[in-house]
Amino acid sequence: MKVLVVGSGGREHAIAWKLAQSPKVSQVFVAPGNGGTLRDTNLKNLALSDPHELADWAEQNKVVLTVVGPEAPLAAGIVDIFRGRGLRIFGPTKAAAQLESSKAFAKDFMQRHGIPTARYAVFGDADAAHAYVAEQGAPIVIKADGLAAGKGVVVAMTLDEAHAAIDMILRDNVLGVTHNVEGARVVIEQFLQGEEASFIVISDGKEVVALATSQDHKRLLDCDEGPNTGGMGAYSPAPVVTPNVHAKAMHEIVLPTIAGMAKDGIPFTGFLYAGLMIDAEGRPYTIEFNARLGDPETQPILMRLKSDLFELLMAATEGQGALKDVELQWDRRAALGVVLAAHGYPLQPRKGDGIDGLPPDQDDAMVFHAGTAANGDGQLVTSGGRVLCATALGESVRVAQQRAYELLEPIRFDGMQLRRDIGHRAVKR
Ligand code: AMP
Ligand code: GLY
Repeated sequence: MKVLVVGSGGREHAIAWKLAQSPKVSQVFVAPGNGGTLRDTNLKNLALSDPHELADWAEQNKVVLTVVGPEAPLAAGIVDIFRGRGLRIFGPTKAAAQLESSKAFAKDFMQRHGIPTARYAVFGDADAAHAYVAEQGAPIVIKADGLAAGKGVVVAMTLDEAHAAIDMILRDNVLGVTHNVEGARVVIEQFLQGEEASFIVISDGKEVVALATSQDHKRLLDCDEGPNTGGMGAYSPAPVVTPNVHAKAMHEIVLPTIAGMAKDGIPFTGFLYAGLMIDAEGRPYTIEFNARLGDPETQPILMRLKSDLFELLMAATEGQGALKDVELQWDRRAALGVVLAAHGYPLQPRKGDGIDGLPPDQDDAMVFHAGTAANGDGQLVTSGGRVLCATALGESVRVAQQRAYELLEPIRFDGMQLRRDIGHRAVKR
């Protein structure tokens, strides 16, 4: 059976790699894919990205299942387009994807359904936003309402930073936020303290199956310093999600969200990613929702998944409650991925730097590609902010960490940026 993966990042490389392992899958196409999916003989790149053209292609080529990786096509309604034509696709509709594409929608939803999250207010008017921040004081968190590839959030430790962030989002838009129909808006939030974890589940609109837990590293530099990025590395499982925290996250956040969306008439089908802040008492709060798998969390999570991803996604798109009977099998080892980012990431990543020294693929040690492409001479070059994610399994997070850093050791490109401390919280425990 043929499957199609939409996207071009490290997450999509990992999804395609995992789907290709299913004995039921004859061919995995990745649209548009990257330099890594191009080189992988089990995968085929497809130079398409328009949702209507993709639907035409899926129909003509008898694709059995389409899986959407990134948020942009989901927010543009690719799932609605495919379903409207009777094509099987895994992901949320445009309306349901608002849990991610509009932070204001997500916050209002959480408030209405009693889901634990930070206190907040929404502003379109800069003067009102400045006045609110002056009254609340710092630290405080300023977020762009629309999609910003993980870069639309400023955790302001001082009032000056908070005021500058408001102007940056509402007046200058240097982050390149895709504003929603209401125009530029900011969400201003209470600053939460604790440890973060990524809690990702799969849902068919009613049933829920949790994936393995993980933790991402959002800041650019070691010791969690520097600007926020899409994520510089991740590992799974996240020890901060104890069985007790897991149960709370399911019962207080995930299940009420799936039930609340169904009740509001916009059932959520797809991967639901709750970004959690877990306080000192082990209480999880929702920092954000994503309507998709995390990147780079997917790379270590899927490396640990022993079950057949294709069968799982077929069950989730059957619409007959088939997800209810699914029990996922996980490798008991830990997995850890380190992102290699381009010069200038996150603000102005440079493209076209030649990449050398890639190690051969192994089942338990893979370098997933993201911003890579083949140049005119067939040489592999950088073509985006996050370039590669070296991911490895190990008996513990410490061993997985050691193996991932060994794996990336020979890789070279000009301006390469990486963190040397991915997994530090788990290793210290
Ligand atoms: P988001 O894109 O909403 O996940 O935010 C990016 C990062 O900013 C999060 O991973 C947190 O590290 C931080 N952050 C967001 N909201 C808050 C908050 N209310 N309190 C503290 N930190 C936050
Ligand atoms: N790594 C965080 C995200 O995918 O949004």
